Amino acid sequence: MSPLQPILIDEFKRAGIDVMIKRDDLLHPIISGNKWRKLKYNLHEAKNQGIKKVISFGGAYSNHIHALAYACKLQQLDCLGIIRGEPEYQNNFTLSWARHWGMNLQFVDRQTYRLRHQQAFLQQLASQHERSMIIPEGGSNHLALAGVAEIIDELELQTKYDYLVTPVGSGGTLAGLIQADKSRHQLLGISVLKQDGYLEQEVANLLPQSAQAYPNWRIINDHHCGGYGKFKAEHVAQIADLIQRTNIPFEPVYSGKMMLALMAMAKSGYFAPGSRVVLLHTGGLQGLGGLAQRQRINPSDFIMPISAPDSAPDSAQSTK
Ligand SMILES: Cc1ncc(COP(=O)(O)O)c(C=O)c1O
Repeated sequence: MSPLQPILIDEFKRAGIDVMIKRDDLLHPIISGNKWRKLKYNLHEAKNQGIKKVISFGGAYSNHIHALAYACKLQQLDCLGIIRGEPEYQNNFTLSWARHWGMNLQFVDRQTYRLRHQQAFLQQLASQHERSMIIPEGGSNHLALAGVAEIIDELELQTKYDYLVTPVGSGGTLAGLIQADKSRHQLLGISVLKQDGYLEQEVANLLPQSAQAYPNWRIINDHHCGGYGKFKAEHVAQIADLIQRTNIPFEPVYSGKMMLALMAMAKSGYFAPGSRVVLLHTGGLQGLGGLAQRQRINPSDFIMPISAPDSAPDSAQSTK
């Protein structure tokens, strides 16, 4: 069970709200946050079915690809990452580690990558790899929802709360929370990307029929800081300041954006005084390695992950 800790900062005190953070980033040093939750039953299923190879998709800095590579090594499963982009990316922080743990990489262009949800493409891929299992991008499928549900069970034992807040990328984490919570709390997803309704649809598509009617959830769209993976110097400065004040490791793609959203929402009176709010720290700290390599952040502002493996050639070299 991951720990729950209070966030004692003036912004929340002024709004009269109690904010706690569920530290799923501490679940495992590598398979951290929602990756642990989402991969757990996927990999159980792979083992139960006698699968030899797991195949999945991701961008060149994907937290999911990084976690999957390590999880497959632990489970002695072969794994293949289908990566959007050029082979030069193989030496970046994320993919150096993935290769180090034994993941094979196949780089595809954007057009091919777009086929990743299409049945015909997936069938062809499966036929090329004997006894394989394909896990979607971000690990978001119905088996992922079962793992995420365990967060709700743990919170039941840990505290009483009104709101549960998570960053949203592909929607699997929020969907898992909605299904397990059964509308007992207000669930808020902070979109980390610019979107116009497609994420709500993605979440709805992931929910089983029985959970489709649960009303107590919404996606907040005003705090993506410009889009997926985008942020400005002022956002980094605010996140760095929060890390200083709380000693909690945040990164600017998921957990940092959630924190900025929460502070803005608290200031604008979104939460009634006395509200108890739980934030989910979904991990993703390995992403800091790639951001530092590309000089998009200054490592001294953040609590950094350990550096890339020496065994990977040119692992310290910045790619794109
Ligand atoms: C660290 C981190 N937090 C949150 C998310 C968003 O989760 P989801 O894709 O399930 O919406 C992701 C992406 O999967 C992630 O890597």
